[in-house]
Amino acid sequence: MIKKIKGTRDYFSTDAKKLEKTISILENISKRYSLNKIISPTFENTDLFSKAVGNETDVVSKEMYTFKDKKGRSISLKPEGTASTVRIVLENKLLDNNKSEDFYYIDSMFRYERPQKGRQREFFQFGVERFGKDSVYIDVETILIAIDILKEMNIDKYELQINSIGSLEDREKYNKALKSYIKDNFNELSDYAKEKFTSGNIFRIFDSKDESDLKILKNVPSIFEFISIESKERFELIEKLLIENKIKYVINNNLVRGLDYYNDIVFEFVSTDLKNLGTKSTIIGGGRYDSLINKFDETKQIPAIGFAVGLERLMLAANDYLEGNVNDEIDYYLIVAYNEELMNHKAFEIAKKLREKQHSVIVDYSTKKISKKFDIAEKRNAKNVIIIGNEITNEIVTIKNIKDGSSKELKIKEI
Ligand code: HAM
Repeated sequence: MIKKIKGTRDYFSTDAKKLEKTISILENISKRYSLNKIISPTFENTDLFSKAVGNETDVVSKEMYTFKDKKGRSISLKPEGTASTVRIVLENKLLDNNKSEDFYYIDSMFRYERPQKGRQREFFQFGVERFGKDSVYIDVETILIAIDILKEMNIDKYELQINSIGSLEDREKYNKALKSYIKDNFNELSDYAKEKFTSGNIFRIFDSKDESDLKILKNVPSIFEFISIESKERFELIEKLLIENKIKYVINNNLVRGLDYYNDIVFEFVSTDLKNLGTKSTIIGGGRYDSLINKFDETKQIPAIGFAVGLERLMLAANDYLEGNVNDEIDYYLIVAYNEELMNHKAFEIAKKLREKQHSVIVDYSTKKISKKFDIAEKRNAKNVIIIGNEITNEIVTIKNIKDGSSKELKIKEI
């Protein structure tokens, strides 16, 4: 038997319905915010991700599925959606003439990570990318889109963490200060943190859960001390708007995000749910990335902001709600009483007619006993059962309402 690849998952039965329900909620929210759908290819030139996400990040340096195609070109499966979105808007000139546009996507992404609850090697991501708008209202509105998702999925066990990482130059300055602080404490670091420090991936030390690292990180200089007055003021305005809108948040100065393209506001929605997803797992992550377009096209300076959410994580966090809200009812379960040609024929006809009227129908042509077929109808969540029995010679069937148990005879033409 050939099994599925580690870190991938199959969707069927209730899980497929939960996924469908989740996607329909996300599509609806996208409509309300007038986001335009884009679908990008599953693989891209590796350079796209190296340049956008950054060569030193874990996502690019360790987790990408990269291979050579038959002509020797380096190709990578998409580990995230922002880089592809930027490529699409530039390649198709979607933002020319000062246009501002908002996009969303629901795509498979691939990261070679150690699989665990809510972490896979292939996962679905819903992402929002908004271009050409730099107002702080857009920053808060973008956070609101994420809150709408959590609200509609009935998720309330989370914490919104925000931070400002200033401009790219501010970050350079901070990087230097952080390096010198960490260097002084190098011997007490865990092997994980030591490796991050030596490989130049210093911000990733903030992801460590090691006790000794956490102790050192407690007194680490804050990025906030290094950001410009403008960035600070911008952050204060965002805070003011969040408070005005009664949106609870905490400032996490160690929140730097694992991708290189951000500036100013960064945010994450972190699970506090012990039961389903587990605590500390990030459900949604995003931020501003005002310089990314310019990195690909120096003639353009287009501000941008976005976030992404992993659908598997979202579904784990919303599990209790989804359990009770996936609609797998069917309208009619047709039971052919005996395997006779006339009964089969009429059942086929009735089913066709009901489906033309948009009802969901299953026909049971099997030779099982009628009582057994009734059991199956109940298991399949049928609202009504129609029995096609001997009375069919008079064009009559029996219809039973499963909920209230009532039943009556009906002429076929009345259906
Ligand atoms: P990210 O923080 O790398 O950001 O990923 C966003 C979300 O994708 C995570 O919070 C998580 O829910 C989900 N995710 C990531 N890796 C996995 C995995 N291995 N298994 C399951 N779910 C996963 C980005 O990808 C940015 N492109 C977000 C963004 C958009 N920033 C601006 N615009």
